[in-house]
Amino acid sequence: MPATTGPRLIAGNANRPLAEAIARQLGVQLDQATISAFSDGEVRVQLHENVRGADVFVVQPTSAPVNDHLMELLIIMDALRRSSVGRITPVIPYFGYARQEKKTAGREPISAKLVANLITVAGAHRVLTLDLTARAIEGFFDIPVDHLRAGPIQAHYLQHQLPVAECAIVAPDEGAVDRASRFQERFGRGSNFAIVLKHRPTPDVTEVRGMIGDVAGRICILVDDIISTGGTLMRAAELLLEHGAREVYAAVTHAVLAPDAPQRLQDSPLAGVIVTDTINIPPDKRFPKLTVLSVAPLLADAIHRIHNDQSVSELYN
Ligand code: R5P
Repeated sequence: MPATTGPRLIAGNANRPLAEAIARQLGVQLDQATISAFSDGEVRVQLHENVRGADVFVVQPTSAPVNDHLMELLIIMDALRRSSVGRITPVIPYFGYARQEKKTAGREPISAKLVANLITVAGAHRVLTLDLTARAIEGFFDIPVDHLRAGPIQAHYLQHQLPVAECAIVAPDEGAVDRASRFQERFGRGSNFAIVLKHRPTPDVTEVRGMIGDVAGRICILVDDIISTGGTLMRAAELLLEHGAREVYAAVTHAVLAPDAPQRLQDSPLAGVIVTDTINIPPDKRFPKLTVLSVAPLLADAIHRIHNDQSVSELYN
């Protein structure tokens, strides 16, 4: 593996502020490249620097517009492969299509698996990602996947904002139990633990059927991977307050944020929403209750370790 120079970084258009922050952490410049579109919408890529033999990391969350950003990532990798690059690692802080990781009814696709195939065929040697909705997606790749977690960043932040022994960590649905329990390990065992039982009659409608655990008098922290419509968090927050919670915060990794979600979250009973910058959040989607923590130091550390063939697993938990 070429390790004669440092890691090289290329950014797609999905989240340049994050790519620039990672580059600053690593003390490198982003590679110069044209990543634009032809008049009919086809992605156009041209690399402006020699990448022969280089260890290149392509920073591109596949956030909305998901298909455009995914195609950019694939086409950047194709350009790298055809330019005799040494190794390609797509850095996908938010992996679009992750919620379609299994069939929930007959005659449905498994889109996350198809996306994994596309990324591999385009030339990825390994993948660096963060908080996949389902860990099973790691197995959709036949190349190494380094799967990081943002929970420790948020737990560390909230430890300094809230009295740990008066808090309860809450999984807003059964699928979030493992994530919330790992969060509690980092946040502090003095906190309580609870689970909200969620039901989705249709993909964008959320109902809650009850909860397991005691949150009376507690400051609750809901832990989840994605906020899209905000329905999951808002229904859960209402239920927790009905069960005597003092206040409810949310710690969520990926701010997908459907168009009306910012206003609904601001008007909701949530006291605060703590997200990360895996997805670029434009100013018009930011709202007073929102706090954005950066995953750039974590991703830069992982890139440094991958480039130098050092262990990444201690960053996993
Ligand atoms: C899936 O269940 C995920 O973990 C999230 O809970 C979900 O994507 C959140 O979506 P929404 O904000 O639309 O309820």
